[in-house]
Amino acid sequence: MQVVEKRPFYLYSKAQITRNVEAYKEALEGLDNSVIGYAIKANNNFLILNHLRSLGCGAVLVSGNELRLALKAGFDPTRCIFNGNGKLLEDLVLAAQEGVFVNIDSEFDLDNIVSAARIAGKKVNVLLRINPDVDPQVHPYVATGNKNSKFGIRNEKLQWFLDQVKSYPDELKLVGAHCHLGSTITKVDIFRDAAEIMVKFIDEIRAQGFDISYLNIGGGLGIDYYHTGTVLPTPRDLIDTVRDLVKSRNLNLIIEPGRSLIANTCCLVNRVTGVKTNGTKNFIVIDGSMAELIRPSLYDAYQHIELVSPPPPDAAVSTFDVVGPVCESADFLGKNRELPAPARGSGLVVHDAGAYCMSMASTYNLKMRPPEYWVCFLQS
Ligand code: LLP
Repeated sequence: MQVVEKRPFYLYSKAQITRNVEAYKEALEGLDNSVIGYAIKANNNFLILNHLRSLGCGAVLVSGNELRLALKAGFDPTRCIFNGNGKLLEDLVLAAQEGVFVNIDSEFDLDNIVSAARIAGKKVNVLLRINPDVDPQVHPYVATGNKNSKFGIRNEKLQWFLDQVKSYPDELKLVGAHCHLGSTITKVDIFRDAAEIMVKFIDEIRAQGFDISYLNIGGGLGIDYYHTGTVLPTPRDLIDTVRDLVKSRNLNLIIEPGRSLIANTCCLVNRVTGVKTNGTKNFIVIDGSMAELIRPSLYDAYQHIELVSPPPPDAAVSTFDVVGPVCESADFLGKNRELPAPARGSGLVVHDAGAYCMSMASTYNLKMRPPEYWVCFLQS
């Protein structure tokens, strides 16, 4: 394939997106009324949203604009979940009007949801976002389900929240409990531990006469960024680890995957501007940067890097930092990568760039946000 684009771009595989959704759908077989709520923050490309919706996904939203986009892409609002620790009243009003599930995150959030219900003239289906306080064993910036995180209610105040919900029968209907532990989780036991805690909360809530039917275990399943062949938990492993708990309580399961649906469907395609050495460091300088893909700079995240053009025949293999042109030293896509010295102008890809890459891209240094393409093969 000849690449004519003169700037970094994202390249997706539509077939891989389909395969990822199918893996979740197959894993959920036997669990009736479950919802795959795709976390739109991972990637909000409109064609991708349409495709995910056509495959049967619901959507997980964290802002009014994500909700508007989801509605535009045709998502069924009654299979959408509105999350967040700082949801705005006007966005909650839209959620209430549309019949979206809303997670209660705090005392003031509950207050706003009640006001939104009154303004919209609609009763809101709410879930309580509980902190199971289970360590997700991930980078602290993407850990959310621990006690000191900014998300979710104070569990010691559970009774207060239940009493509040009871006192607003015209505005709120409690339908379930929600948790989200964090992102890039690579051990399925972590989800099991949290689900055990969550069903105990559900038992407690039901014992008070609430007819709740949804357990939402959030998203967070990691993917094989390292490409070392390590076997990581699959969607089936994730669902199987909670299946008996869900069935034993006759619950409907909601899951909120983002990364595990979209990360491995895409790469960022870059061009090598040149190779240089300073002190003891070798650098491959590319046209892509932290502006297009910030995860390595922000979380010290590893994303696999490969050259896509054959290197010159005499190219020596060395250890390189792969860096962009942005004017700061945080601008790197990979550190200490063993690669043959590439020719100027040759292609270099950063893998697994479907999640939290384009959606976190900026125009820093007045770089253009990169274009996105997808490869679609027509079904015969
Ligand atoms: N549900 C909630 C409430 C969330 O906060 C998140 C992600 C998800 C679902 C989806 O999680 P996933 O399945 O994608 O792990 N920018 C970071 C990731 C931040 C994740 C924030 N919350 C990164 O690039 O790694």
